[in-house]
This record gives sequence, structure tokens and C-alpha cells, in this order.
Amino acid sequence: MSSPVFSFLETDDLAPQEIEGLFAQAKTIKNHFLKHRSFSKTSFSDNSLLLSLLFFEPSTRTRSSFEMAALRMGWQTTFFDGASKEGSSLIKGETFEDTFWTLHAMGPNMLVVRCGDELQLKNLSKKSQVPLLNAGWGTHSHPTQALLDVFTMFESFANLKNKNILFVGDVRHSRVAQSHFRFLPQMGAQVGVVGPEAFLTQIPASIQTFTDLSQALPWADVVVGLRVQFERHGEPALFSKEDYIKKYQLNSSHAKHLKAEALLFHPGPVNWGLEFDPSVRELSHFKMWEQKQNGVYVRAALLDLMARKNGY
Ligand code: CP
Repeated sequence: MSSPVFSFLETDDLAPQEIEGLFAQAKTIKNHFLKHRSFSKTSFSDNSLLLSLLFFEPSTRTRSSFEMAALRMGWQTTFFDGASKEGSSLIKGETFEDTFWTLHAMGPNMLVVRCGDELQLKNLSKKSQVPLLNAGWGTHSHPTQALLDVFTMFESFANLKNKNILFVGDVRHSRVAQSHFRFLPQMGAQVGVVGPEAFLTQIPASIQTFTDLSQALPWADVVVGLRVQFERHGEPALFSKEDYIKKYQLNSSHAKHLKAEALLFHPGPVNWGLEFDPSVRELSHFKMWEQKQNGVYVRAALLDLMARKNGY
């Protein structure tokens, strides 16, 4: 394959019309699937491609939805588990970067990469002869999560103009929040944050910061609970769990402040009993399972768009 290739590292790699088209196709795929329990292969550009997944951090949702999307489109997939280290040459000291170029050399049609901040995905994409998809990059970005979240919002709202989207909790370590800080304002939404002070560092000036959850919730049309990312905290502890639960947990008491039509999201995985009390699963606001389901359709539409943009 000759350079340049088209990689997807951030939501703004796609033009607004492409995102509109992607959501329209995801909706078509979803409607077809709900009727026939299969994807319509005829709507895809090619069904003989090989998608390689290279994950240096653990994943359930992103990995499985990319794999299911690709397999339902008739593609083949391979999965490299770089998170556990056992069973690969990472245990012998091979670097992440060499591992990336090794998989790259084998010639998949696309590489889906999840990694920490130590890999420079942007630099790799400049040299890569294989299109890359960002499946969660350190604390930088998680653009496919942002796409599937907005697609899910559109199932309840005709558009996001003047809608208020509130992120609660560990904003500082959230690549999901980082992607949304770029994407949601482009969709016309206002963004707010609330959480312990230690989690609200380097918030862009355009984003509204709340100090009190009971004041923030009545403002919000969508509330996104964020996972407390203990694995990125280090020592000493950045926050008190007891204080977090009292002030920021989404539970039946705080939920009383939600607007009647507000949506409650969480990218997952959830620390139940910390960000969310298990009782929120029973609320009509709770849309987490819809987010997971839509992840497959949105990623299928993205893979198809990537195939077309790369001439497959
Ligand atoms: N939301 C999300 O990225 O989940 P996984 O880490 O399980 O992929």
C-alpha cells in the first residue's frame, strides 16, 4: 500500500458531513440488525478485509464491539493482547513500539490500537502504511466512545444545540471527557464538569465548572458518570471515597435533581457503589446498555467509512 493512508485518531479527523453520514449508516445497520439479527453485507464496501486489534490496555466494550462489528460485516479479525504481557514477546522486553511495527509489517488492512500515553499514536500514524483507529489512547482521547455517545444522544434529541452535557467525577484522567470536550461543542452542546477538585485540573475555559452536584444536575440534559481511574492515580490518594460518595455519587437521592428527560450515561466499566449506586440501573434516565449496543453499529459504520476512505 502506498502512503498516505487515512487514520482515525480524533473525531475532528472526520468532516461534519462524514459524521452525519456515519450516524445515518449506523442507524440503518441498527434497524436492519434489530429486524434480521444480521448486518446487511450488501451495504458494505468490501467483506474480505482483515482487521487487527492491538491492545496494550485492557478492554471489554471497545474490543468486543470492534470485533463483533467486523465479524458481522464479514471481515476477519486478529487480536493481540498486549495488556497482560504473558504469552507474547513483551515478556522478553520487546517494546510497545516494536510490537506495533511487527503487527504493522504483517499487513492487516487496518489496525485498531489501544495504548497508554507512552505510545505516540499521532507520530506512528504519520509513518504507518496501515490505517489506524484510536481505540482509547492514554488520557488523550477515545473518539469512538464520543461518536457512540453522541449517536445515543441523538436517539433522544433531534440535535444537541443548546443541550447541556455534564461530566461527573474523574475528569482529569478521562480520555472520554477529553474527546467530548472537542466534539460536543462542535455539535452545538454546552459542556459542564463537577467532581472533587483534584479531578478538575486543566479544564478548558469554555467548559462550565460546578462545585455542587445538586446545582449541576438540574442544568444537565445528559449526565455522564466517569470511572474513577485508580490505575492512573499513583500515591498518595487523590481523593476520599467517602467524600466522593456523599458529594458526587449518582444515587436515588441525587437523582431527584435530574430533569425529567435527562439521560444518564457511563462509558463503563462502572465502579458500582462509587460513581453510581446500583439503584440507578432502574431509572428511566439510565442509558448505559443502549450506549454499549450502539457501540457495535457506530464502529461498523466507522470501519466501513475507513474502508472507503482508504480505497478498499
Ligand atoms: N468504555 C470503554 O472504553 O470500555 P472498555 O475499556 O471496556 O473498552
